[in-house]
Amino acid sequence: MLVVSTEYSQILAAHVAHALDCRLGGVRFTRFPDGEHYLRMDSPEKEMVIVGSVPDADALVQLLLLIDACEGSECTLVVPYLGYARQDKKFNPGEPLSARAIARVFSHGVSRVFTVNVHDRRVLTHFGVSAQDISLAAEIGRYLSSQPFTNPLILAPDDGAAEFASQVAGTCGWQHDHLEKVRITGDEVRIEPKHLEVKDRDVVIVDDIISTGGTLATSAAMLGAQGAKSVSSVCVHGVLAEGAYIRLLAKGIREVTCSDTLERACSRYTAGTAIAEGIRGNF
Ligand code: R5P
Repeated sequence: MLVVSTEYSQILAAHVAHALDCRLGGVRFTRFPDGEHYLRMDSPEKEMVIVGSVPDADALVQLLLLIDACEGSECTLVVPYLGYARQDKKFNPGEPLSARAIARVFSHGVSRVFTVNVHDRRVLTHFGVSAQDISLAAEIGRYLSSQPFTNPLILAPDDGAAEFASQVAGTCGWQHDHLEKVRITGDEVRIEPKHLEVKDRDVVIVDDIISTGGTLATSAAMLGAQGAKSVSSVCVHGVLAEGAYIRLLAKGIREVTCSDTLERACSRYTAGTAIAEGIRGNF
């Protein structure tokens, strides 16, 4: 089995290969003079694992080209961060179901697909091949257990992340709770007032994605007003759009941590082991 990746998931792919105890295949990426992508990979093997997050259109094209280059092999596709997965409803006539469009594109040339904490598991039904989501709740729990927190509380910013927070807290053996969020615009949310026992406690907000950071900033303001000693956040996918990382730190968030599904300087834990376990279970 050979593991290959797009430029977007090189470090994670190395972790996956190490955990699977198999080789990494080299790929060279360049562009044609008109900007189109070109890639050339080492000779494929019978079984291939293709790793590529899709944070933008260039990543999408690279991943499609890589899948095509693996033609003739038995391919497992790992899309650690599946972009467009949050656009899983049509709100107005004439809109695409973007999550479905992306899932359909990745249903060709591969025999199975793995995602990591996909925003909503219903998206998996849009793939035309077997699709499975891997959760990093236990990885986050283990990461947090190694940190020096005082009387910590794990908090989900909304209903949708409550189960995830409970799984993280289950690994640490810490208390957990959740807030109620109403999204007003793309980067503005309202958090319903809720009294929490946070005085002099370290609060860790866990979520699948930090995008603009609006959810986190609004939650942290409420927690600060209630006397929390510190507010940190650990997410799976650090999208960190529009300068979110620095804005969050400037607002007093103690630490922002994400996994390497999107490779960032604040990727402090890896999805590689969980992905390898998922693949092993399915081969
Ligand atoms: C939404 O339901 C997600 O779970 C995240 O809470 C959301 O994507 C975070 O977005 P932002 O950082 O822009 O508030």
